[in-house]
Amino acid sequence: MIDVHKLRKDFPILEKKIHGKPLVYLDNAATTQKPKMVLDEIIEFYSSINSNIHRGVHYLSEQASIAYENARKTVKGFLNAKSDYEIVFTSGTTQAINLVANSFGSKFIEEGDEIIVSEMEHHSNIVPWQILCERTQAELKVAPFDDDGKLMMDELKGLITEKTKLIAIVYVSNALGVVNPIKEIIEMAHTQDIPVLIDGAQAVQHFPVDVQELDCDFFAFSGHKMYAETGIGVLYGKEKWLEDMPPHHSGGGMVDSVTFEKTTYADLPFKFEAGTGNYVAAVSLAKAIEYISKLSMMEITIYENDLLKYATEKLDAIDGLMIYGLAPKRCGLISFNLDNIHPYDVGMILDKLGIAIRTGTHCAEPVMEHFGINATIRASFAFYNTKEEIDKLIDGMHKARVMLCK
Ligand code: ALA
Repeated sequence: MIDVHKLRKDFPILEKKIHGKPLVYLDNAATTQKPKMVLDEIIEFYSSINSNIHRGVHYLSEQASIAYENARKTVKGFLNAKSDYEIVFTSGTTQAINLVANSFGSKFIEEGDEIIVSEMEHHSNIVPWQILCERTQAELKVAPFDDDGKLMMDELKGLITEKTKLIAIVYVSNALGVVNPIKEIIEMAHTQDIPVLIDGAQAVQHFPVDVQELDCDFFAFSGHKMYAETGIGVLYGKEKWLEDMPPHHSGGGMVDSVTFEKTTYADLPFKFEAGTGNYVAAVSLAKAIEYISKLSMMEITIYENDLLKYATEKLDAIDGLMIYGLAPKRCGLISFNLDNIHPYDVGMILDKLGIAIRTGTHCAEPVMEHFGINATIRASFAFYNTKEEIDKLIDGMHKARVMLCK
């Protein structure tokens, strides 16, 4: 069982006071806080083995390279990928999706082809595909969701044609917290040999993910949203796709041999890792995985689902509060508005109470458009949050209502 009061001590920032009030950090979907174990690992790495990876025969370079490759093995285990070389380190989810759009796109997408996304995507799973479609004269199709935020599966099915070359879809919406039926979508796509990319940025930190069980073709996530340092992310890709895809960036580290006549590329995954990557952040990601694995991902899921249920009930009871995306399967976060008050004004009042939430479009403007709103207030949870903190959010909402409602 999660012992929240004990584990909160692992996160130094949670001791902080903001405007004289204890910090209530409910902006975990934007980025999570880091446990001391991860912070210590970063200092330890720079203090004792820092050196560029895969670049030297000297001791430190070898040690740093071993740590980096061990981090890859840890990620492989975390996702249950078949092999290490299906794990490509990127700077984050955005770069991972751009990698697929550029590389898979240049090899497999032609004029007249179709790519399907959903209406609830983060901009990072829309814009790379729009740019690709502009470049290739392919078509981007959009599967809608209903007013509960539930993806309309029949509509999605109806969009698939013999020209569909890829479905790119979010596992958990960062704007609504809705969990999509990913396995069903993958099974449906695979009956027609269509590969599926999953944006897992809001999934991996909340429940176990097994890429072999899902049978997804690509899976992307970010380290900083799961307790590791910023600047590291992962693209998982099935070997058969990664082997066939050309490099998307080029330079040092991704080649086998270079002459002015002909350059040959390194094997997977190095073909996709040009330049010096953020190897220290990769090691921090492995530490973060170690930390959450010790807590147990199943326990994290149970604890966070209970928090979300509690927050939903309490918020729902506030007069004039509108929750967006009440689909049955949700996790990690809740998005809402209070009467006709602008979310930024609520955000400012909550901030003065030490409560950090996110307000805005959450880089998901089509979701806002669906509901005919400009922005929402979003509270997003981690396993170090407590019901007492949710009570403070609720009190804060009541205060905001009194101060701002005319
Ligand atoms: N994509 C991050 C969020 O949803 C930044 O807040």
